[in-house]
Amino acid sequence: MHADVMIEPTKDQAAKYPDLAGKTYLVTGASSGIGAVTALALGRAGANVVLAARRLDACEALAAQIQAGGGQALALVSAVNGALIAYARALAVELAPIRVNTVSPGWVDTPIWGSIATDDVKANMFRDMAGRLPVGRIGEPKDIAAAVTLLLTNSYMTGTTLEVDGGRRLL
Ligand SMILES: NC(=O)c1ccc[n+]([C@@H]2O[C@H](COP(=O)([O-])OP(=O)(O)OC[C@H]3O[C@@H](n4cnc5c(N)ncnc54)[C@H](OP(=O)(O)O)[C@@H]3O)[C@@H](O)[C@H]2O)c1
Repeated sequence: MHADVMIEPTKDQAAKYPDLAGKTYLVTGASSGIGAVTALALGRAGANVVLAARRLDACEALAAQIQAGGGQALALVSAVNGALIAYARALAVELAPIRVNTVSPGWVDTPIWGSIATDDVKANMFRDMAGRLPVGRIGEPKDIAAAVTLLLTNSYMTGTTLEVDGGRRLL
């Protein structure tokens, strides 16, 4: 799965999300999956995107893709990834007026599943999981990218954890 087939380019993203245009965002885990699609979405919204992961070549390829679409992007190596939900509320108070929010994804179809299951096993797992979820489908990285964009553009949200999980928490 490649990031470039999971989110359609939209020329009006910058107009749609004026709050993002010209701002700079660091995206960790940007070489693949959720991070890659989030970085693409931010780039297409007119943000400057710094892409970080251990695989520099993958970050550079994505940076080139963002630049080809007219965005600004820089790739760098990082060995840090992930968000700590437990700290988000405390940091939102400590770092105010800087806003701190987190996204908690449910089952999302990304390359991470390839490390634990073959394609056949994964297909069966996803069919079973999708059937159990209220929304009836497995998540896509762009579902998570949309939640990140919401948190970035809504200046009244801080200390919030968005559960973007198709209703998995209700099961
Ligand atoms: N997909 C799901 O169903 C799901 C559900 C809940 C939570 N999550 C979490 O969401 C995050 C993104 O996952 P994903 O599904 O998009 O998986 P993915 O496609 O495998 O991407 C993981 C990303 O994290 C980077 N990464 C992994 N270990 C790292 C480390 N030690 N230091 C720096 N970067 C590291 C990887 O890049 P490099 O290998 O280049 O460093 C890659 O860019 C992960 O933290 C995952 O646990 C995913």
